[in-house]
Amino acid sequence: MAVTVVSLGMGIRSAGVVGLGTMGAGIAEVLAMAGLTVTVVEADPDALSRGIAILDGSLRKAVSRGRLTEDEHKEIAGRVHPAPTMAGMADADLVVEVVPEQLPVKRQVIAELDQVLRPEAIIATNTSSLSVTSIAADSAHPGRVVGMHFFNPAPVMRLVEVVTTVLTDPGAARAVTALAGRIGKTPVQVTDRAGFVANALLLPYLNHAVWLLETGYASREDIDLAVTTGIGLPMGPLALLDLIGLDTSLAILEVLEREFGGTRYTPAPLLRRLADAGRTGRKSGRGFYDYGHQETRGAAGSPDQSRPDLAAVSSPGTVTVIGPGAVAGTAGRSAEPHPDRAAELGSLFEAAGISVTSNPAHPTDLGIVAIGPEGGVLGPASAAGRAADAVGLHLPYQNLAEIVPSQLTSAGALAAAVALATRLGLTAVRSADRPGLLAGALLFAHLRDAVAMVADGYATPADVDTAMTLGCGYPRGPMRLLAEAGAGKAADVLSAMHAGYGDPAFAPPPLLREYAIGGLPVQVSGAS
Ligand code: CAA
Repeated sequence: MAVTVVSLGMGIRSAGVVGLGTMGAGIAEVLAMAGLTVTVVEADPDALSRGIAILDGSLRKAVSRGRLTEDEHKEIAGRVHPAPTMAGMADADLVVEVVPEQLPVKRQVIAELDQVLRPEAIIATNTSSLSVTSIAADSAHPGRVVGMHFFNPAPVMRLVEVVTTVLTDPGAARAVTALAGRIGKTPVQVTDRAGFVANALLLPYLNHAVWLLETGYASREDIDLAVTTGIGLPMGPLALLDLIGLDTSLAILEVLEREFGGTRYTPAPLLRRLADAGRTGRKSGRGFYDYGHQETRGAAGSPDQSRPDLAAVSSPGTVTVIGPGAVAGTAGRSAEPHPDRAAELGSLFEAAGISVTSNPAHPTDLGIVAIGPEGGVLGPASAAGRAADAVGLHLPYQNLAEIVPSQLTSAGALAAAVALATRLGLTAVRSADRPGLLAGALLFAHLRDAVAMVADGYATPADVDTAMTLGCGYPRGPMRLLAEAGAGKAADVLSAMHAGYGDPAFAPPPLLREYAIGGLPVQVSGAS
């Protein structure tokens, strides 16, 4: 029988949170901050103390930063009441469940809530990987179960995905949407599909980064630097995996793989091994990075000490820029350095006081192959007779240098190229010589997924950008990033990746080609 749920989020005064892990504590804090009374139930007493400590620590930090007064801190903390059993939630208008991502565990919680809650109260699930429909179907009142998906750290990230199912009472969805706005979040309404919007885009990109690390394509630090320094995202993918939790990330990928299939979602073996080993990230003190020591990392960090392979040697005084004409008649993969790129690099080096020649017959300290994002160092380097002492250089962003050795590049030449980039004031990252190189491979595949999601009709371009800016702190959403990079360029790089790997996951979708011709449905002007 259908019941009338609390008619509007504005009417929600008392809330409950079941499960007080990091997310549960953050959600309880956000609700209490907005003036709601919050009853929390956590079965494990140790977890309860930890959760309360997280909540209190976060409020204390807000006081120390001048965002709250001591009195407000006390008032907010005073609105949070631990209860020993679900019976303590009997009067709640809405309960958010944040228990571990296992369907039997969620089922048990829903069954217990069904017994104590008023029929018109709402049950919100913060699940990030299970089907909200499956969770709802088990409830005595499936219409009142809505997904309310927060992002980590919950007090900071402004997105809430409000997930409705075919069973959802529209009143319940409206109430959760209104509540999300009232607690300072931006709700995006989505239907129940694996990963919703943000995780379905984020996780395959993070997984791609693990594959690159595992296959020796690039180092841990270089992968993260290419993304933060180059693309400008707040955290590198490996540091972000540590924040989300490797076990959680693995669980989401498994669900995505089951629902969509394809290599983008197949968890990298290294991710699984680390999760199996208990190296789950920040919460266990160790994931891709170690948080027990000084190596703790947030968005930035100081990775240079851990990159001995790129230790500075003196910058070359003379450089040969290996430009067009080095390779005649290349087919398929674009190995021919672009004339403008070679000229640009030459000017940059000269401006830094480096002597430059394009004549292969002149002996110099280092050969630089002016490659594009498709890569291709060995052909031009060999044709110029500099196979051992030439390195590819690509500048995808103003501040980032992708240093690309070939199979034959010597360690000395590689170190000299890093020194050269440093002299130019650029952050150097080393990439395998494969289509897309480092930043491009990660970014364009990620943007491709976003375009595919829009093409599927699951989300609008605006939803995609809202989800990734407010949920994951992107300075600009994928659609804006795509517009800035150029849809045509993205399609070209993806085509090269598709040809290079033979993986349809990289093939540019027809909509991307259409964007290349007709433009993207987003404003690029005013980009910050
Ligand atoms: N609790 C409360 N506040 C916090 C916080 C926390 N855990 N962490 C950071 N903050 C606050 C800080 O107090 C600070 O506030 P003020 O500026 O008002 O003082 C602000 O956030 C910025 O923090 P910092 O200066 O310490 O650090 P930062 O500038 O490096 O930003 C970050 C940290 C907000 C986490 C940023 O790196 C970021 O946006 N990262 C991306 C995080 C992301 O992608 N999250 C989504 C993951 S996916 C997910 O969660 C869904 C899922 O289902 C898996």
